[in-house]
Amino acid sequence: MILIDAVTKRYPDGTTAVDRLTLEIPDGSITVLVGPSGCGKTTTLRMINRMIDLTEGRITLDGADIRDQPVNALRRSMGYVIQNAGLFPHRTIADNIATVPRLLGWDRRQAKTRALELMERVGLDPALAKRYPYQLSGGQQQRVGVARALAADPPVMLMDEPFSAVDPVVRKGLQDELLRIQAELGKTIVFVTHDIDEAIKLGDMVAVLREGGKLAQYAPPSELLTAPSDPFVEDFLGTDRGVRRLSFFTAAGVELTSLPIVAVDSTAEQLTERTLPALDLGKTPYLLVTDTEGRPLGWADAKLRAAGDTALTPYGHSFTAGRDSLRAALDSAVLSPTGWAVAVDESGRAVGVAAQETIAAAIRDAHAERPVLLPSQVAEPDGDGGPAGTAAEDAAVPVRPDGAGA
Ligand SMILES: Nc1ncnc2c1ncn2[C@@H]1O[C@H](COP(=O)(O)OP(=O)(O)O)[C@@H](O)[C@H]1O
Ligand SMILES: [Mg+2]
Repeated sequence: MILIDAVTKRYPDGTTAVDRLTLEIPDGSITVLVGPSGCGKTTTLRMINRMIDLTEGRITLDGADIRDQPVNALRRSMGYVIQNAGLFPHRTIADNIATVPRLLGWDRRQAKTRALELMERVGLDPALAKRYPYQLSGGQQQRVGVARALAADPPVMLMDEPFSAVDPVVRKGLQDELLRIQAELGKTIVFVTHDIDEAIKLGDMVAVLREGGKLAQYAPPSELLTAPSDPFVEDFLGTDRGVRRLSFFTAAGVELTSLPIVAVDSTAEQLTERTLPALDLGKTPYLLVTDTEGRPLGWADAKLRAAGDTALTPYGHSFTAGRDSLRAALDSAVLSPTGWAVAVDESGRAVGVAAQETIAAAIRDAHAERPVLLPSQVAEPDGDGGPAGTAAEDAAVPVRPDGAGA
């Protein structure tokens, strides 16, 4: 664990960049520092690996004060990734990645093997190993930066706005890759960003800092969305907090029905004699038509289809049952022309459909298990209800927003 204990940084010109900051950074998870420009994020990160000396307070790593450790050893135990990767322009990609192993005295071949292995790990074609940084795209360079930081397998990774300079599509790819790598490696990652959505997506814990290097709130992302501690945090989080919070609940609780699902080669007889009688046509006047493999093709009017009409209405987009979040299920229902969401399995076959009301019920159930209100704000019904959000919190399975890294 890294403990930042009442740390203050005052620069010689009198600027207080960080003001009595206390944070417990747990092992094996991603802790994000987020806040507007100039709020002390970079200063905090660089105090952890002693690139900047703190003024007051102390920082400990597994209980030991970082000032009591040789600075080189400390830095080698902490991979460091910055915006624009900070690669050495005159060294090849492989040599860039092998920098720390070479410093540690690995022989050339060992270091090269390690570099190639890491290129695969971060999603880079090893054929790029002999190129120079300028011959790579920004996103590729950023992957090299991550590979270089991982090269000597440090337990800690410090990442300062590593993905801020690339376009949104590339950034999403890099974020997903980081979550995938982290699921495999379980590093202790301190990740700095000014982008609250990135913080919510990547963070197991999120520290929101405000101007002057003061901690505004430190909480898991779903809790930030539920209960921002003050108007600054609320404003910084932005709009649609309620819908965004649904990213943290699995859609597994959405009750699906497969009754309206029919294959494209179903006969009119099968429809009139078996399918339609089983449906409540007042509630479900539609059929979801699939190809012969079971993949959804579109919606049809149930009575018209039974009468031989072949018209199909596009179904919008589906969600993956068991993997996606309630937010994905809701989105699927909202975008569906029939108001019914289409659920598919991992191979894309339709497994059921759910009406907006059914999804609303699943949302209510999820909120009952992890209330939006804080326990102190909930009126106790008749005394025996324990504090909300303990056992119930364990029962609700959190999922990564956007289904990444599940
Ligand atoms: N070397 C320095 N000397 C004086 N002030 C600095 C120095 N470096 C940063 N600052 C100031 O400290 C504050 C925090 O900076 P920084 O940690 O870089 O913020 P962030 O990374 O959140 O944008 C800012 O007001 C910045 O201008
Ligand atoms: Mg910064």
